[in-house]
Amino acid sequence: MKLFEAKNVGKRFEGVIALKSADFKIEGSKICGVVGANGSGKTTFARICAGLVKADDGQIFIDGKKVEINSPFDAKKLGIVLVHQNLSLIPDLSVWENINLGHEKRSNNIFFDNKYAKQKAQEVLNDLSPDEISINDKVSGLSPGQMQIVEIAKALSQNPKLLILDEPTAALEYFQVERLFKKIKELKEKNISVILISHRLWEITTLCDVVYVFRNGETVGEVDFSSQPRDENLIVPLVIGANGSIDYIKKDKRELGESKTVLKLENVTFLNKISNINLTVKRGEVLGLGGLNGQGQEELLMLLSGVLRPTDGKMYLEGKEIKLTHPMDAIRKGIFLVPGDRQKDGLFMSQTIFNNVIYPRFSQKKERFILDFKSLYQKTDEIISKVSLVPALKELLVGNLSGGNQQKVVFGRWLQFSSKVLLLNDPAKGIDIQAKNDLYKLVRGLAHEGTSVVLYASSNEELINNCDRVIIMFEGKFVEEICHEEICAEKLIKSSLRVG
Ligand SMILES: Nc1ncnc2c1ncn2[C@@H]1O[C@H](COP(=O)(O)OP(=O)(O)OP(=O)(O)O)[C@@H](O)[C@H]1O
Ligand SMILES: [Mg+2]
Repeated sequence: MKLFEAKNVGKRFEGVIALKSADFKIEGSKICGVVGANGSGKTTFARICAGLVKADDGQIFIDGKKVEINSPFDAKKLGIVLVHQNLSLIPDLSVWENINLGHEKRSNNIFFDNKYAKQKAQEVLNDLSPDEISINDKVSGLSPGQMQIVEIAKALSQNPKLLILDEPTAALEYFQVERLFKKIKELKEKNISVILISHRLWEITTLCDVVYVFRNGETVGEVDFSSQPRDENLIVPLVIGANGSIDYIKKDKRELGESKTVLKLENVTFLNKISNINLTVKRGEVLGLGGLNGQGQEELLMLLSGVLRPTDGKMYLEGKEIKLTHPMDAIRKGIFLVPGDRQKDGLFMSQTIFNNVIYPRFSQKKERFILDFKSLYQKTDEIISKVSLVPALKELLVGNLSGGNQQKVVFGRWLQFSSKVLLLNDPAKGIDIQAKNDLYKLVRGLAHEGTSVVLYASSNEELINNCDRVIIMFEGKFVEEICHEEICAEKLIKSSLRVG
């Protein structure tokens, strides 16, 4: 594609302006970044280009000619393929079936050509993930990162001319990110244009030729790295606006020696996923769980929150043994989980923000039947303002919020309770830089007030900036503990890979 251009593209959803006026241009085989705060319209723009949403205003041109994109079919004919922010795979089908789904080749125009389909799936996967995923694996058994890779493979198998990736790396390990970046660079060499939507500015400055910034549904700026330095500081002011500035949190050195032990685990084991974990977490401590993706961190958080039950070992809260048989048990004891998969485990997508915020209250005995709606409305408004939810409308359906704003609801709902232990599974996934900083400020504020926090983050930077101690996990075991100033990127990576 020589030139893809969008002019004044706009979209409203029942009164909400999702996109006011997007202007966008990508010339030749370039890698073009799109950044912007949560809810600034990036996904809406991508969905319009891919024919999943019809724009209300504006025009799209390809190679100077105006085109109509009224359906995914139209987009596909034009060579535009989108890798969704929320995965679109069918869990019960195999990897190769998913990769070919919707664009199957038929032999003799009658039967699906399965041999060809498998071969094609293998080819695209070879580049992205040579030894990690088998084409015959069922998608439901894959980790979120592996699912993301299959989703990208599915897009690549359609031979796009313009590939749009909407936050493709949020669930990926850094080595998976490296492979993906290599692949994106190869696509560029093959004259394929790529649009990369991301909140991770280092990805944008490393990989892109040019970046567009969206703010409140408008394109507010463009940074072209062929003439400007690859500097995040050129992008941040455009993202947050002229009057905004980010008050970056600084890590404070804290002495927790005298603090009481809140959480204690003795030989906790879960099937073959977690073995013999011994752990203590102090009052007010922020404990990080490091290591490669899928080394048992998620299972450990689920054991601590009553989603899973240990097959062996004991857990204590403030010195008393606890047996959690249900997440509600944990909630009643002041142990709260922000799950990793917000759509599946964290939200009722077809319910309002208000209902999603108040539902944990049903675990409190006294509130099971009688609810004081006036005070709950007020509490919900307070939470909406604390997490800077956009739009700040408690009656809006959660499914209509942008990805990052959905994540704010999952986290924010716990702010109405006093928490003893807060369990965070990659809480900043998909959250913009300002909101991420605000979120961790809230987390650290809670820790200062005495909440113990157990944090798993896929980004090392979040562990480095926020944890008092990090424990590296490998194959369900604790393999190393890193404390205070020792916590740095090099050490985290080396011990995750078990080198050095
Ligand atoms: N189907 C819908 N109905 C109502 N509002 C919607 C719908 N889809 C999106 N919106 C709203 O449009 C705005 C833009 O959303 P969009 O998902 O495009 O943001 P985004 O820039 O991708 O954000 P994020 O970084 O959080 O993914 C948001 O305010 C969102 O709530
Ligand atoms: Mg989005």
